[in-house]
Amino acid sequence: MAGISTIYKLSVICACVLLVCGTRCPVLECWFVQEKPGGGFPAATIQEKALMYISSEPAGDGSGAGRSPPVDIDPARIYHVSDQSATLCSSPLQPAEGSVKKPQCEINPFLPQPALVQWAAPLTSSARSPLYLQADWFSAALLGLDGQLVMSSVMRAPTATNKPNVILSVSSRTPTVRSRLGVPVLLDCGFWVDPSSPLSGSGFSVEWRYQFRGEGRLLLAYDSKSDRYAETSEEGAELNFTALHQTGNASLILEETKVRHSGTYICTVYLPYLLAQVALDLEVEEPPSLSLSPTPLPVVYPGQSRTVQCDASGFTPLTLQLHWEFVGADGKVQVLGEGRMSGHRQASDGTFSQSSWLDLDTSRMDLGRGGELSCVVVHSRWTRRVSTTLNIVGVGGPSIEDSMAMVAVALGLYGIIKVVSWAFGSSGSSDPDSKDKKEK
Ligand SMILES: *[C@@H]1O[C@H](CO)[C@@H](O)[C@H](O)[C@H]1NC(C)=O
Ligand SMILES: *[C@@H]1O[C@H](CO)[C@@H](O)[C@H](O)[C@H]1NC(C)=O
Repeated sequence: MAGISTIYKLSVICACVLLVCGTRCPVLECWFVQEKPGGGFPAATIQEKALMYISSEPAGDGSGAGRSPPVDIDPARIYHVSDQSATLCSSPLQPAEGSVKKPQCEINPFLPQPALVQWAAPLTSSARSPLYLQADWFSAALLGLDGQLVMSSVMRAPTATNKPNVILSVSSRTPTVRSRLGVPVLLDCGFWVDPSSPLSGSGFSVEWRYQFRGEGRLLLAYDSKSDRYAETSEEGAELNFTALHQTGNASLILEETKVRHSGTYICTVYLPYLLAQVALDLEVEEPPSLSLSPTPLPVVYPGQSRTVQCDASGFTPLTLQLHWEFVGADGKVQVLGEGRMSGHRQASDGTFSQSSWLDLDTSRMDLGRGGELSCVVVHSRWTRRVSTTLNIVGVGGPSIEDSMAMVAVALGLYGIIKVVSWAFGSSGSSDPDSKDKKEK
C-alpha cells in the first residue's frame, strides 16, 4: 500500500515536472477590493480575501480545479484565470513553498469605457463590439517578490463564471531603477493583448506620465493609429517604435538622466475601452566628488591649531553622512566626528554640495607626530574618502622606542666597521675610524 502510494506520488511529481512545471503557474492570494454599494463619503470599500488559480492555457482548463478551496475564502471570490501571455506565471509571483514573503495582489471590478484622453479617443471612434463588453471585467494589480515585477491586468469573464481571461497586461521588470547622472536609462514597460480578443488589432495608445511630490505631467503619448507621438513634452524621452509594434515593448528611453528625472513614472496602455498601467520609480544617484583644502596641508607645530576643509560636490540625492578620520603613525584609527557642517547648496544642474570644517587643535587632540587625515562620505550606495598627510614637527623629539632603536643601529654599525677594519687589517687602521667619526 505504502509502495503504491509512493509510486503514485512520484508519478504525480514527474507529471508535474514534465507538464506543468515548465509553465508552472501560481495560485495567487489576493484582496478583492470594491466600493461599498450605496457609496458614501469618503467612498467606503469592502475588502475580501480572494484566490486566483492561474493557468497559461486557454480558458476552461481550470488549473487547481481539483484542489479543495480554503474554507476562509468565499467561493465567489475564487477565480480560475487564464493568462496566455503567462506573465502571471513569472517567477517573481511564485513564492517558495512555505515562504512568508508573498507577492502582493489586489483585484478590483473594472468598468470598460471609452478613454477620456485625446490620444486614445480615436480607438473607440468606431464602436466595434459593445456586446463583447457585456461580461464581468476585473483588473488585477500585482507586485512580485523583492520588487522584481510590477504588473496590472485587465480580465474578462463570461458573466458569473469566475473564469476570467487576461485581455490586456502591462508589466515592468524593474519597478525601481537606479541610475547615475548623465547616462541613458531605460524604464522597462511591456504590454500584451490577447490576440483572440476583438479589441486586439484595432490599435493602442501608450502614455508616459511623470509624478513627483504630487505634481504630475505628461511626458509623451503615442497613438498607434497615426503611428506617431500625439504629445511630447520631454526632450530626450523616446519609445522604440519597432520594439513597440513587434513585442509590445513600450519602455521609455531617457537619453541622459538629469537630477530632475528622479520620481515616479507611469506607463499606461490604452486599448479601445480598456486601460492598464504600472508605476516605476527612478532614482537618479550621483556620488559626491571630494576635495580637501588646503592641500598639501602645511606642517603643523605643537600647540598650533589648523582648520581643514572638506568639500563634497556634485551629488544627488541630498542626504549624505560625513565624518573625519585620523590614522596615526602607530596605525591607531581615531574617528573625529563630522566637524562643522555647512548647509547644502544646489548647483544649476540640480546637484548638491556641502562642506565640513575640522579644527585640528594639537594641544587638545592626541595626534602624535601626525598621520593620515581623511574625510569620509557615505552617500547612497557609495563610500568615498579623500586623504592628506598631517605632519606635526618637533613633538617632544623621537619616542623612547625610536631612541633605543637608533642606539642599537649605531652600536651595530660600529661593530661592523670594527670587524671590517680588523679583516682588512694592518694598513691605515686609523682611516675607517676617522670616517666613522665624520659620519656621526
Ligand atoms: C524592452 O527592450 C529593452 C531593450 O531593448 C529590454 O531591455 C527590455 O527587457 C524590453 N522589455 C520588455 C518588457 O520586453
Ligand atoms: C529597437 O528595437 C529593435 C527590436 O527590439 C532593436 O533591434 C533596435 O536595436 C532598437 N532600436 C534602438 C534605437 O534601440
